[in-house]
Amino acid sequence: MTLTPWWRNAVVYEVYVRSFADADGDGEGDLRGVRSRLGHLRHLGVDALWLTPFYRSPLADGGYDVADYRAVDPRFGSLGDFDDLVAAAHGHGLRLIVDIVPNHTSDRHRWFQEALASPPGSPARDRYLFRPGGPAGPAGAAGPAGAAGPAGAAEGPPNDWPSAFGGPAWTRLPDGEWYLHLYTPEQPDLNWRNPEVRREFEDILRFWLDRGVDGFRIDVAAGLFKDGTYGDLGGRDRRALHGPVYARSEIHPVYRAWRRILDEYDGDRMAIGEVWTEGPEDLALYLRPDELHQVFQFDLQLAPWSAPAFRDVVASALAAVAGAGAAPTWVLSSHDSVRHVTRYGRPGSAPGLGPARARAALLFMLALPGSAYLYQGEELGLPEVTDLPDAARQDPIWTQSAGGEPGRDGCRVPLPWSGKTEPYGFSADGVRPWLPMPAGWAALTAEAQAPDPASTLSFYREALARRRLLTADLPDGVEWLDSPETALIFRRGPFACALNCGEDPVRMPSGSVLLTSAPLHGDLLAGNSSAWLVPSG
Ligand code: GLC
Repeated sequence: MTLTPWWRNAVVYEVYVRSFADADGDGEGDLRGVRSRLGHLRHLGVDALWLTPFYRSPLADGGYDVADYRAVDPRFGSLGDFDDLVAAAHGHGLRLIVDIVPNHTSDRHRWFQEALASPPGSPARDRYLFRPGGPAGPAGAAGPAGAAGPAGAAEGPPNDWPSAFGGPAWTRLPDGEWYLHLYTPEQPDLNWRNPEVRREFEDILRFWLDRGVDGFRIDVAAGLFKDGTYGDLGGRDRRALHGPVYARSEIHPVYRAWRRILDEYDGDRMAIGEVWTEGPEDLALYLRPDELHQVFQFDLQLAPWSAPAFRDVVASALAAVAGAGAAPTWVLSSHDSVRHVTRYGRPGSAPGLGPARARAALLFMLALPGSAYLYQGEELGLPEVTDLPDAARQDPIWTQSAGGEPGRDGCRVPLPWSGKTEPYGFSADGVRPWLPMPAGWAALTAEAQAPDPASTLSFYREALARRRLLTADLPDGVEWLDSPETALIFRRGPFACALNCGEDPVRMPSGSVLLTSAPLHGDLLAGNSSAWLVPSG
C-alpha cells in the first residue's frame, strides 16, 4: 500500500509573517510571534503553514526583494528563531513550507551591488539582465530616462515591456546600460541562463532543507527565462508577455533539478509553483512526475459569485491536473488579492452578504479533491481594509501607479488576536502596528470568536475537523448531481456538497446533513449558503 503524501490533501495556511504576530514589540510580525501562535493553527486544524519571505530585505516589495537568501531579516528574528519555529511546528504536527524567490533579487543583494560596480559586459552583470538602450520613441518616452546616452544620442529602454506594478520594466544606469525588472526597480531580474545562478539556488534549497523545511512555494515560478530577442509588445497589454516570459520551455530542466534535490531528502519534501498560465495545458507541464508536486490554480479566486462559473472552474481545474496524475489546489484569498469576504459583497448590499458567501465558499472549496491554501485572517472573516490613509500605504503598486491603484495593503493589515483596540493583541499594548488596524475589529478577534459557536472561527474549526475525518478516502473526481441553475451539487463517493449561489432557497437532496454554512429551513438550503451531507440512496 502506498501512503498518500501529506501535501496531496493538505490544508495549508499562508502566514504573512509581517502581519501575523509581533513578539518583539516593534510593530511588525516576526518568527517568534508565529511560534507563539502555533496553538491557534493546530486548534484551527490546518496541516501546514507557508511562511512568506522573512529573509534579509529592504522590504521594497514586502520581502519579495531578497538581499540575502540565507539570513533572517533582523526585524523578523534570527536563524535560531527559525530553527526553533521549525521544531515547534513539527512538535505540533504541522509541516512548514517557505517561499523562495528565484526570479529576482533585491537591488541590495551582494550580486547586484557587484554588478553596479562592474562595467558593461562583466561577469557580475551577466548574473542579471542588462542591455543597451534602444531608440527613444513611445517606449523611450515611458522610461525614466528618455535621456541622452553616453554618446549623446536620445535613447529609451531596450524595449517597451511594462513592469507588473506600473511603469517600465527597465531602469537605466548612469553608464547607459539598462536592467530588467518585471516588478519594482528594486527587484532586478536574474539571468537564469547563467550557470552560477542555477547553482546558487540549488544551494539555497539545500540550506533550508537542511534546516528542516517541508517544502517551498516558488514565487513567479514561470517567469525565470526571457526571450533573448526582447521584442516590443507594440501596444499590446501585459498579457502579451506570456510568450516571451511566462511560457518558456527552458524552465522545466530547472525544476527537474530542484525535484532531484527534494527527493534526496526524507519525508515528502515538496514544491508548489506560483504559475500563471494562459491555459491548463501549460500547468500540466510543471506537474510531470519529475517536476513540481503542485501548482497554484487561481481560477476559483478569480471567478465571480456564480454557480455556472464555479462549475466551469472546477471542471477545468480537475482536467488540468488529471493528465499529470496530480491533485488540484484551491485558493480563495492570498496576500496579493482583495479578501474574499469583501470581493463577494456587492456595493450597496447588506453587510452580511460577503461573510455569508465567504462561509459558503469555504465548504465548497474544502469539499473538492486536492489541497486548499487558506490565507491568514480568513478564519476570522476579516474584510479587506479599504480606507487605509494614503500616507500609511506601503505596497509598491500604490507608489508605482502614483496612487492610481490602491495595491495590496488592505489584505495585509495585522491580525486582531484579542482586546478592544489597536493593536488587538498583535503587538504589545501601546505599540503602533506597521499598518493601522481599523477601529471596530474588537468583535473579530480570535479571543472574541473562540467561545462563540456561531462565529466564523468556530465554523472554520468545525469544517476543518470534519474535512480531516471525511475526505482522506474520497475519490479524486466529482460527480455533478442535478440542481437548479443557480446552485451546484456534487458528490464524491458517499459524500456530497451543495452550494446555493442564488438568492432563493433550493431543495437539498435527501440524506443526513453534516454541516451547513447557514441555518437550514427543513430541507431548504438558503440563498448564498452551502452544506455538506451524506445523501441517502
Ligand atoms: C508574487 C508574490 C507577490 C510579489 C511578486 C513579486 O506574485 O506573491 O507578492 O509582489 O511575486 O515577487
